[in-house]
Amino acid sequence: MTNTSEYTRCVYRILISASAGALVILVKGDVERVLFDEPAIHRRLDEIAAQISRDYRDRELSVVAVLHGSLMFVADLLRRIPLPLKLDCVSAASYHGKSQSSGEVVFKEVTVPDVADRDVLILDDILDTGHTLAAIRETVQRAKPRNIQVCVLLSKKRERAREVYPDYVGFEIEDEFVVGYGLDFRERYRNLPYIGVLRKELLEQSSE
Ligand code: IMP
Ligand code: MG
Repeated sequence: MTNTSEYTRCVYRILISASAGALVILVKGDVERVLFDEPAIHRRLDEIAAQISRDYRDRELSVVAVLHGSLMFVADLLRRIPLPLKLDCVSAASYHGKSQSSGEVVFKEVTVPDVADRDVLILDDILDTGHTLAAIRETVQRAKPRNIQVCVLLSKKRERAREVYPDYVGFEIEDEFVVGYGLDFRERYRNLPYIGVLRKELLEQSSE
């Protein structure tokens, strides 16, 4: 390797990390406060994964991931579970780009996963009104699984419009709108490595 190419690579590296840093600062201004940073999320995932691995050993585990919000969570959690498992994804939304649930749950991926006689674990990012998970549980039930359990990274402390009692919960949070680590507001902020509360003004501006 010549000195010139080494120098060029070094300059590129500085430019890339400077622009990534600038992006983080830019987006961080929209977040009121960080609730869980990356190490805190990963520590909790270690605990949940250990619990799931114990509970599902010797069982036919089928994971049903609810896209897109659970993407980071699913990827990080499943790599901590050393069991043979099958992974299916469904895509559903009840928000339609707003910060309030509309109550109507629209499935974008309508195929019901083939989970007959299997032990299903539904993974979602956040439990809010309960509309989404209740609808997904009903859809999965149609495939006649042996059993269905639900795991959510976040659960909001609030009254539910539909009853859903998750079997595994990463963190309980107050009834605030959060973004990052897969969670979005109008498709933004999913790539933040932490979970934080979005500034209220941004939610208010968008509902005007
Ligand atoms: P539910 O149907 O009201 O329980 O809402 C569940 C879905 O709404 C989640 O899977 C998220 O996609 C979205 N959601 C609910 N609360 C939040 C939030 O605070 N931030 C980002 N997305 C949210
Ligand atoms: Mg979601």
